[in-house]
Order: sequence, then structure tokens, then C-alpha cells
Amino acid sequence: MKIALLGLGTVGTGVVDVLGSNREKIAGLTGESLTISHVLVNDINKKRGSGLDGAVITDDIEKIIEDDTIDIVIEVMGGIERTKNILKAFLEKGVHVISANKDMLAEHIDELVETANENNAQLLYEASVAGGIPVIHGIEHSLNSNQITKVMGILNGTTNYILSKMTIDGWDYNRALDDAKEKGYAEADPTNDVEGIDAQRKIVLLSRLAYGRTVDIGTVPVSGISGVDITDIENAARENLTLKLLGKSEYRDGALSISVEPVLLPSDHQLAGVNYEKNAVFVNGNAVGEAMFYGPGAGSLETASAVVSDLINAVRSKDSRHKNFAPDAPAAVENGSGMNE
Ligand code: NDP
Ligand code: HSE
Repeated sequence: MKIALLGLGTVGTGVVDVLGSNREKIAGLTGESLTISHVLVNDINKKRGSGLDGAVITDDIEKIIEDDTIDIVIEVMGGIERTKNILKAFLEKGVHVISANKDMLAEHIDELVETANENNAQLLYEASVAGGIPVIHGIEHSLNSNQITKVMGILNGTTNYILSKMTIDGWDYNRALDDAKEKGYAEADPTNDVEGIDAQRKIVLLSRLAYGRTVDIGTVPVSGISGVDITDIENAARENLTLKLLGKSEYRDGALSISVEPVLLPSDHQLAGVNYEKNAVFVNGNAVGEAMFYGPGAGSLETASAVVSDLINAVRSKDSRHKNFAPDAPAAVENGSGMNE
């Protein structure tokens, strides 16, 4: 099965790594050998790592769109209008699309879903919200028996990393931001991270799924953390409060309340204990009550984990012979005493 990978940066290289290191398991789950046949980049002269033997590395998207042998496209390059048009072109050909691009999806998901549905293609986007945490799948599939009334959480790894570094380690804002960039958590232009826009896009995507309603991003009030300094954090700590950037939405009686803003939480609140690049999302449903999703919100392998899972799920559902998972051998159980809790 041939895959085109659009983008070979932080997330794209993570995808290549996960496909390489978990190759056997993935082949077992899909019954297919998955090959990256094309890679789209900006700069074809940049030195690239291993794991792409035989792949065409190009800056020419038309060459990839015209290739009718491609089965699945993974988009991890970013960009909004042009990227939407590229992905639409693949969906129109019935090619499944996987994207981590919340910037584009928050504006164009309804159009892309419509195109996908018209052409019997799948659009999967687990990595677009909260990195490696399966919150999209959780809301769309695992909690679909509920009327969901509330979604709230820490949805941006960069700002949580900055606030945690300032609160726990006493770093100043700029040093923490530079470190978040270095670690690959921040966007190419981190303005959208620190101004709350990245979290705004994510709460829009989650709310759309949770309440089954389209959400116009322009209606979502947003403020970020660029004005925060170390004295704000120290003053809050003296009051036993912790500053977190939260995305929140509630849907009651047909009305949606939604926002992104810095919030002072009691320091013993569960979200106050979510630190560094970790994200956490609370979802309230009328059957499940309150469920919490927690894990890495950004990073190369962490995000690739979600992208490659989408890939596996796309391949498995493409194959009508797909069987439901059944383990083929019992586990060898060891005595669990002494395990860390
Ligand atoms: P990077 O900037 O690290 O990588 C972007 C890649 O896309 C690069 O390989 C770049 O090429 C290529 N690229 C960018 N624009 C174009 C273009 N117009 N034409 C061809 N190639 C292009 O980004 P990330 O990997 O960090 O992020 C990728 C996507 O994943 C974004 O949408 C981001 O929001 C999302 N995301 C990122 C997460 C993270 O932790 N970093 C987590 C979750 C989602 P070249 O190598 O030549 O520069
Ligand atoms: N820049 C984003 C963040 C990447 O820091 O959360 C993950 O979407």
C-alpha cells in the first residue's frame, strides 16, 4: 500500500520512525506492507534521516496528486488554504487523508468531510488535538452513547510547558518559549500558541464532535499568555493558585458557551497538576459522568503515535476482509508485586 507523506519536519520524521520501529506489529494489524512512496518537502536539498529508502522526495505536489497509485495521504506540513485545496484534491480521488493540521481543519473541516463523504474516502485527524492523546477517537467513538455537555482542558503543549517552567522551575517566559521551540512543541511561528489561537482551534474541533454542531471559529473569544510574567505566577502561588491556559465549552439547551483564556486554578485542582508539554481534557457526558484524557500534547513521536494509528485504522477499514481483533496467544503473566504504581 502506497503512502504519500506531506511534510518531513518534527511530526513527519516521527511518523517515519514509528513506521520503521513498529513495522512488524503494523503489518500484523493491517495485513499490508505500508510503504512511503512520496514525501513532499519545501527544501529538497535539506539532508534527511534514514527510513525512506526508495521514496521520491519532491517539492512538486502536482506530481503526487497525479499519481493514481497512492492509497493514503498523511499531511503533516501545516498551512491553511493551499493545504485544504491539496487535501480536497486527494479526497475527490477517493484517497484517504490523515491530517494533524488543526489550523486548517478548524476552518475547513466541514468542507473536507463533505468531500470525503461524497467520494467514499476517510478523513482522520486524531493528532490535530492534544497530540498523542486519543481524545478525538474518544469523543467520536468511545463516548458516542452520551449527550456531551462540557469539554474543558489544557489543549496547548507549548503554553503549558512555558507556564510549568515558570511555575515549577522559576524560568522566565522567553527562556521557556525558546526551549519549547527547541523541543519541537511550538508551531513554526509560535504566536498562535502563546496567543491562545492554537487552543481555540482545538476547542472548536472538539466541540464540533462533542455536540454534533458546526462551530464558527470567529465566534470563539480567545486570550493567551503572552502578557504573563514571573511576578503573576509568584503572586498566584502565594494564594495557592496555579495559572493554566484553558479551552472550555459547554452546550446546554441548544446554546454553546466557548472560550480560551488563562485561568487561576486552585493548586490542588487536577488540571493544575498537568505540567510541561502534557495536555488533559475533561469531557462530561450524561451517561459516563466526567471522563479525563491525559497525555503528551505535542512532540515528534508522541504526535506520530496518533498519526500512525489513524493510518492503521484507515487501512483496516479500507479492507472489507478486516476481522475484529482477537489475540492469538495468552500472555505470560509474571508476579506483579513490586510494580511501580
Ligand atoms: P515542521 O515545521 O517541523 O515541519 C513541516 C514540514 O512540512 C517540513 O518538512 C517542511 O519542509 C514541510 N513543508 C511546510 N510547508 C510546505 C509546503 N508549502 N510545501 C512542501 N512542504 C512543506 O512542522 P511540525 O512537524 O511541527 O508540524 C506539522 C503539522 O503538524 C502542523 O500542522 C502542526 O500544527 C501539526 N502538529 C504538530 C505537533 C508538534 O508537536 N510539532 C503536534 C500536533 C500537530 P522542509 O523540511 O523542507 O522545511
Ligand atoms: N504547537 C502545538 C502545541 C503542537 O504546543 O500544543 C500540538 O498541537
